[in-house]
Amino acid sequence: MANQNPLRVGIVMGSASDGPTMKKCAAVLDELGIGYDMMVCSAHRTPDRAHDFATNAAGRGIKVIIAAAGMSAHLAGVMASLTHLPILGVPMDGKLMGGLDALLSTCNMPKGIPVGTMSMGSHGAVNAALFAAAIIATSEPEVNEKLIAYRKAQTAAIPERLPEDD
Ligand code: RP5
Repeated sequence: MANQNPLRVGIVMGSASDGPTMKKCAAVLDELGIGYDMMVCSAHRTPDRAHDFATNAAGRGIKVIIAAAGMSAHLAGVMASLTHLPILGVPMDGKLMGGLDALLSTCNMPKGIPVGTMSMGSHGAVNAALFAAAIIATSEPEVNEKLIAYRKAQTAAIPERLPEDD
């Protein structure tokens, strides 16, 4: 899954079971005209693949990596340990205590190797795309314009009042 725009974002996830959630992240990047490469890349089941993705990312033009994982979610931390690129972690929800296991695993990084942690599940997936866009927008005016337009459209779509009951 990708689009035709120049590659700027890497999306990795610990399992194909995270795919339905992370497709929501990809959809926002599509909307903003940002190119991405998305793959299943587990820190513990496919460590060599995770290593290759992280260490080659900067050389491929990737500016931000979004790493999604559930349970003992160390994928984002592993990515952050292998590249200087900014890493946005998305804890998958629905596991132990609704995803609290993944949230704490992702966000509570010891000092020295940061992970910018999003909210859990699909909200975090969408916000990761918007956060990545905001980072890229600092150096790419076209993305900046699209991000501003996205936010204006979002604001315009929020109704002031609830619909009247019939
Ligand atoms: C993590 O374990 C994945 O990110 C996924 O959220 C969770 C469960 O994986 P599966 O058993 O569904 O493959 O590594």
